[in-house]
Amino acid sequence: MYSEEDIEEVRSRNDIVDVVSSYVQIKRSGSNYFGLCPFHNEKSPSFCVNPGKQMYFCFGCHKGGNVFTFLMDYNQCNFPEAVEELADRCGYKLPKKEMTKAQKERQTKRTKLSYIYKDAANYYYSRLHSNAGEPGRYYFKDVRGLDKETMRNFALGYAGGGWNNLYNFLKDKGYDDSMMKESGLVAFDEKKGPRDYFINRVIFPIVNEQGDPVGLGGRVLDDSKPKYLNSRENELFMKRKTIYGFNIAKRTRRDMYILCEGYMDVIALQKAGFDNAIAALGTALTKDHVSRLKRGGKKVYTCFDSDTAGIDATLRAIGMFKLLDVDCKVITMGDYKDPDEFIKANGTEAFEDRIKKAENAFIFAIDARKRDFDVSDPEENNRFFRNMAGRIAILKTDIERENYIAVLSERYNVSPDSLRELVRDVSKNDKELKKIQEEFYRGYSEEDFKNDGFSEEDENKKRLVGRESIQKKGKAGLRETEGILLTWLFEEPNIYPKIAKFINPLDFQEGLYRDVATDLVKAYEEGGDFDPASIMCRFEDNSAHEEIAKMLHTKIDGIESDKDKEVLLKETLIKLKKEGLSSVDNAQAGAGARIRQIKEDIRAIETQDLL
Ligand code: UTP
Ligand code: MN
Repeated sequence: MYSEEDIEEVRSRNDIVDVVSSYVQIKRSGSNYFGLCPFHNEKSPSFCVNPGKQMYFCFGCHKGGNVFTFLMDYNQCNFPEAVEELADRCGYKLPKKEMTKAQKERQTKRTKLSYIYKDAANYYYSRLHSNAGEPGRYYFKDVRGLDKETMRNFALGYAGGGWNNLYNFLKDKGYDDSMMKESGLVAFDEKKGPRDYFINRVIFPIVNEQGDPVGLGGRVLDDSKPKYLNSRENELFMKRKTIYGFNIAKRTRRDMYILCEGYMDVIALQKAGFDNAIAALGTALTKDHVSRLKRGGKKVYTCFDSDTAGIDATLRAIGMFKLLDVDCKVITMGDYKDPDEFIKANGTEAFEDRIKKAENAFIFAIDARKRDFDVSDPEENNRFFRNMAGRIAILKTDIERENYIAVLSERYNVSPDSLRELVRDVSKNDKELKKIQEEFYRGYSEEDFKNDGFSEEDENKKRLVGRESIQKKGKAGLRETEGILLTWLFEEPNIYPKIAKFINPLDFQEGLYRDVATDLVKAYEEGGDFDPASIMCRFEDNSAHEEIAKMLHTKIDGIESDKDKEVLLKETLIKLKKEGLSSVDNAQAGAGARIRQIKEDIRAIETQDLL
């Protein structure tokens, strides 16, 4: 990781207004800038960028942070990547990260690989638009209904006939045989020599989240088999991690991703304006895909093919998303085979309507499971209901269970009481419950997602002092009190000297709040400015940045006069002191003195004029 000095230097050289406005339109209003929030859909601007504080905050969706957070959220990248991008932007030279020999080798291999796919994609792209590309152009334009712009956006290409076109092209570019072999774009046959992997196929470059090609897919132009071929997996391209279209979809302003099956579905949907369309390519959804989408922070609407394979894929996705608490819904397309066909036949608005009518995933899965039972037979019907009850039983909260009992009992014509009773009964049978759980979650458990290949992030989580306690305790009221005081002191620093003697960071009970309070007090005591945007850099996880931005934008209501101000300030301080009091550990040395001090403070706050 980079040093604190480097990080701070990069941060101070990148003005937040400057950075944000290169991505989002913002307009000055008073001392702040406002615009439409890039992180959720809205019609009137609640996204606020504050040049003084070097922070942004959305009053609508509560995303917030400093320049680094913004890039992490906007580009869906991690902290070091955000630092690197901003260093680039201001021309600051970061020290080279020390690499081991193995890492260096890997790095050069990666670089070479990424160049070879880039060059190959370029080659196929120009081939599509050359004389020889006519069959490819016909296929995309007349058979699949794509326009030139879409072909360009997805860098679609064409590999015509001939065994060695790409081979010769790459050879001319200076790639050696072993590199070509490694890329999987050219095969080397002992007798026949080099052979291009893609022949007579249209080409779909597969790009990573940064938009760089890491592999290629090729489709036949007719009905022959195999329909699609993908270039070989390698260090840059693992199917189980790749999400087609995500480089675009990660920036969508919609609040959900539309997860479909194939290249053409993504392309057709994006062409129709659904920039949130994505696909897991030619594999069942993996836990890597699910973790990645969870990190994206949006809902996921599945829109798989209408055939049985598609329904099975949907059910698998539903279980995995539910396990990770990702909000999931199901888009169905009736008689149409897939979203590509649907949108071609019915257009954008009709699909928009399908989105609106997306079904509850949990109920969809139960309806689907019902088809496995012959419910006209009472025995099987019993089994179906026990299965349903088991699924309800594994839901995480009472409220959730109650909500589903209400809806499902009506849907399946039983009384809520008997369903509730059955849920209780199945809950007692560990073996049966476990089986149902495994069936629904497809054998996955939360444990499986703990180390999901995003280890850097896991590390950062550990650094987040107190964050967990914030979530676990859920003491909304307490956080509000602490937030009000911090926001206030931050907005009106001149209040600080008046109440300094009552402010003790130890009175703040929530870890992150206490950290911020400690920094604020230190800064003010030293006569300096309190600079939360810089504090954030201590945390690499943007959820901490968000939490800090949020606590410093706590709503302070009900102040109309100076008197209100005095009253509210007193109230807030007293609440805080009382929390501090109840948190004193009696076993600790000095506990008695601290208790006396707090009580004295409370009395003083009650009786003195503060402002
Ligand atoms: P589909 O057969 O549903 O593809 O497979 P599609 O996108 O609807 O194909 P079109 O519309 O006929 O062109 C879904 C995805 O599974 C992968 C591809 O990524 C495809 O987009 N797949 C499919 C393969 O990798 N190999 C195959 O032979 C078939
Ligand atoms: Mn299709």
